[in-house]
This record gives sequence, structure tokens and C-alpha cells, in this order.
Amino acid sequence: MTLSQSIPKDTASLVEDKPVLHIWGRSPLKGHVSISGAKNSALVLMTGALLASDACILRNVPALADIGSMGQILSALGVKINFDSNTDATAGAKTLTIDASTITQTEAPYELVSQLRASFFALGPLLARTGVAKMPLPGGCAIGARPVALHVRGLQQMGADVYIEHGVVHAYAKRLKGARIYLDYPSVGATETLMMAAALAEGETILENAAQEPEVIDLANFCNAMGAKIQGAGTNSIVIEGVPRLHGVDYNIIPDRIEAGTFLMAGAITQSEITLSPVVPEHLTAVIAKLKDIGVRVVQEDHQTLRVMPGAVLRGTDIETLPYPGFPTDMQALFMALLTLCEGNSVITETVFENRLGHVPELIRMGADIRVKGNHAVICGVPFLSGAPVSGTDLRASAALVVAALAAEGQSTISGLQYLDRGYENIEAKLRGLGARIERVQPNSGSMLVEAPSLV
Ligand code: UD1
Repeated sequence: MTLSQSIPKDTASLVEDKPVLHIWGRSPLKGHVSISGAKNSALVLMTGALLASDACILRNVPALADIGSMGQILSALGVKINFDSNTDATAGAKTLTIDASTITQTEAPYELVSQLRASFFALGPLLARTGVAKMPLPGGCAIGARPVALHVRGLQQMGADVYIEHGVVHAYAKRLKGARIYLDYPSVGATETLMMAAALAEGETILENAAQEPEVIDLANFCNAMGAKIQGAGTNSIVIEGVPRLHGVDYNIIPDRIEAGTFLMAGAITQSEITLSPVVPEHLTAVIAKLKDIGVRVVQEDHQTLRVMPGAVLRGTDIETLPYPGFPTDMQALFMALLTLCEGNSVITETVFENRLGHVPELIRMGADIRVKGNHAVICGVPFLSGAPVSGTDLRASAALVVAALAAEGQSTISGLQYLDRGYENIEAKLRGLGARIERVQPNSGSMLVEAPSLV
């Protein structure tokens, strides 16, 4: 038996010297929380800046580990990046200047790409801009195999010579040619990769069965501000008329709908009243509809503010994850946390990723009653959860555990924070601002016997 196998699960994080979150549940939340810029928009817009022949400024960029990783990847390509955290009003948000006027390298390093799957989306813009792109295959991750065949096939249809050698996708095209491309599945990443590639291609590209996510619209708006001619983003058919050159732009990123959804869930599960802004309420239509179905009250205060309020009784409901505008897979784990405490039975069906139920055993450790069969989870509501040591298995699974811990009796200790930190800017500071009792502890920084912060 190895040392790590012999260590009880709940202490493994301590031995590994990784930080943990302590949460003392059952504190009501109250007040207002500011929502950061959208992680998934920011990441793809950073790759989109490769299309421009001069510098782009991105505002409202969330201060996240993934943004730093993407910055490193662009730097490795010879792009000049400047992070400025003092220019935005939103706490922690960064303004990024990305100057891709000169690209000196066309191959991204595997060590960086393997850490951040979204960096593969640079394949399209890099190829369109320089005629050559070599991107290591990112590999799978905790939630699924995550193939990139649709990205590759689309570029081939645009005339690129693409092959895989030694784990690296090699793509060559003097100038890409517009094509009619049907996506077998409305993949967000493939839609974004191909839309960016088509922006600098010769002639017209039509993407059929395209992804309709708000982040795809944000990317199209960003490219159009740079001089691209993209129509139809947000529908399943996007038409791109290629242009020879794109120029720099100053662009503000949309609010993060998944972070907003996470705070709606924090309010709902603790039966609290909180407000959130800025948000784009239309981006949360499916999430708000399901919350109302459960019995949570959500009202729109103004065009960018939502208020969540306790409902009389919370009832179970059925959820199936789907491409936008269907229910988002990124909110599935979070809703499962809420449904564990709703009256009656609920069924969650995960259709987008094949392995995205890693949070189930951890929720069960907290007292939830959940059975999994294939991609279905049957949740029988329980009267309460109890705090426990639990470990996040991916980004949204970790967020679900935080939300569950806010409602649980007693103390929870959440490890695996490297996932949480990829997608949430200052999550504990934001929750503490709402009245949650939450502390981040670095095991080797002193005593692990942490006192619960007093109630205010
Ligand atoms: C993006 C989001 C992620 C979200 C997901 C689905 C970013 C950085 N990430 O990921 O947070 O959970 O959308 O909303 O924006 N597929 C294929 N072949 C391909 C590509 C994808 O079969 O070539 C499949 C995937 O295996 C998966 C499904 O399509 O089952 C959806 O994946 P996709 O929309 O591509 O997700 P990402 O763009 O990677």
C-alpha cells in the first residue's frame, strides 16, 4: 500500500499541503454580490485576439488561474500580454492588453495546453492568422474524453491540411477558404474555433447546427468590433464573410452566467434573500425557470439585477442538461446540491458529458440520498445535510459542495480547491460578504484547528 492510499480521504489534502475551505453551514445570507466577467468568454476572446494585427484591450476579465494559464500560452506564442488589475471598478477584475501584432511561435507547449483545454481553441485563429498552427491534443479531463474531431474536421473542410503526429495537431493553410460546415453536435469550442478561423478566410462560411451559447455571441460581437463580418451568432446557423485583416479593439466581457447561477443557488439552498448584479437575466432563463419550478422566488429588479428569495416549500423537479438554450451542464452539480434538500424525488439526466456525476459520492457523504444509473441520478430529498470532509472532482462539482456546505449542519472541509479556483474569483470573500462563515486554510501555515467565525 502506498502512503497516499493509507491516508484517510479527509486528511489527504492536509498531507499534500493543499489549501482547504472550512465552511460552517446554516448561516443565513443577506445582501448584494457582484458578478465577475465570464470565464468562458474571457478565455476564448483571449485566443480571438490572435486574429488582430494590432493590440486588443479586454475589460472585465475575471482574475482566475485559467486566465493566467491562457496568458502564459499566448506569451509562449510570442504575443505581448499586459495584465492590469487596477483599472476596473469590479474588485479583482483585470484589464488585459493583448498585442498579437507579431506572433513568433506557432506551436503551443503541451505542459500548458494540457492544463487548460480551452487553449486548444487557439488552433483556429492561429492557423487563420499565420498559416500554421501546432496544438498538442489537450487530452480528456475529469468530466469526459472531450474529443476535438469537430474542430479538426471543420478546418479540413475549409481547405486546411490537418494531421496528428506525436500527440500534436498540425494544421497548415496558406489561406483558409469559406465552406458550408455542418456540426454533428453543437459544440461550443468547435463553433468558436471555426468562427474565428472563418473570420479571416477567403469567402463565405456557413456553420450549421452551431452552438448558441451567450459566449459564442460575445465572441462574434468581439470579432465584429475588430472588423469581422459575422451574422447569426446566437442562432444555430452562423454566416461568416471572411475579411483579409482584423484590427485591435477595446472590448468589455459579458457577466458570468454560471457564477450568477452559483450565487442564485447559494441563496436558494440557504433560504436567503440576496441580490446579484451585473447579470444578463436572459442568459439564465433555463436556470430561473427550474428554480421557480422548485419553489424558489426569483425576481428581476432591473435589466441587470436579480433578487433571489426563499419560497414556502421547495419541491423536487426533473432536469436534463442540453446545449443552450437548454439547461446548462455547468449548473447540473449545483442544482443537484439544492435538490438533495427538496421535498420528493428528482431525476437529473446528464446528456452533454459522459462522466459528470463525480459530486454524487461527496454529496452522499454529507447525508444526501442519491442513486446513479448510467447518466441518470435519482435524488430523494432529505430533511438536512450534515457537514463532512469532501473533495471537489471538477470545477462545478467543487462549487456544488460549497453550496451544499452552506446549508449543512456543522462544519464541512472542502479540498480539491485547484478546481474551484479555476472558475470563481474571490469566492470565499464574496460569500463572506453575504454573511457566510467560510475560511480558507493553508495546512502548513499553522494550526488546522480553526475556530468558526462568529455570526454577525
Ligand atoms: C464549453 C465550456 C464548458 C461547458 C461546455 C458545454 C468553455 C471554455 N468551456 O466546453 O464549460 O461545460 O462548453 O456547455 O467554453 N464534442 C465532440 N466532438 C468535438 C467536440 C465536442 O463530440 O469535437 C462533444 C463533447 O465530448 C461533449 C459535447 O460535445 O460531449 C459538448 O462539448 P463542447 O460544447 O465542445 O464543450 P467545450 O467547448 O469543450
